[in-house]
Amino acid sequence: MKKIKPLKVSIVMGSQSDYKTMKLAENTLKKIGLLFEIKIISAHRTPKRMYDYAQSAEKNGIGVIIAGAGGSAHLPGMISSMTSLPVLGVPIESKKLKGLDSLLSIAQMPKGVPVGTLAIGQDGAINAALLAASIIANNEPKIKKKIIAWRRTQTKSVKKKPK
Ligand code: RP5
Repeated sequence: MKKIKPLKVSIVMGSQSDYKTMKLAENTLKKIGLLFEIKIISAHRTPKRMYDYAQSAEKNGIGVIIAGAGGSAHLPGMISSMTSLPVLGVPIESKKLKGLDSLLSIAQMPKGVPVGTLAIGQDGAINAALLAASIIANNEPKIKKKIIAWRRTQTKSVKKKPK
């Protein structure tokens, strides 16, 4: 019988400058052992690339999309408008408004086209990867075990007393 390939997580970001944040999502996916791809796609600088990507994401074996963008951050919402896959948005910390612009742009999607919005910056990137892993884990018992182990390690790392 042909083995069905597990679904991939796709990480996309609006600019090379977002990678210092989004690499935390990449590292987290690697630690948990998920299949993933990573790309630069800008909603306003490469609109055709965004369109082609979103249109073909599902048939390319992607299960969850993590999209990081900063400023007037329309990338996650635009992608979500063209696919029914879950889209998780990571607001990048912008220079002028410290990411509040990115957060509101991503979180305040009008009803009908959802984007699951994480925290600003590196915490958001890590949590987006963990959430993507939890979604994939619904159909991948091995990934579920890895997430449980990851949480256990995190719990053990918290000291009972401060030094
Ligand atoms: C957004 O503009 C990107 O997501 C990035 O956070 C921001 C700034 O991009 P660069 O000017 O650094 O390329 O599209």
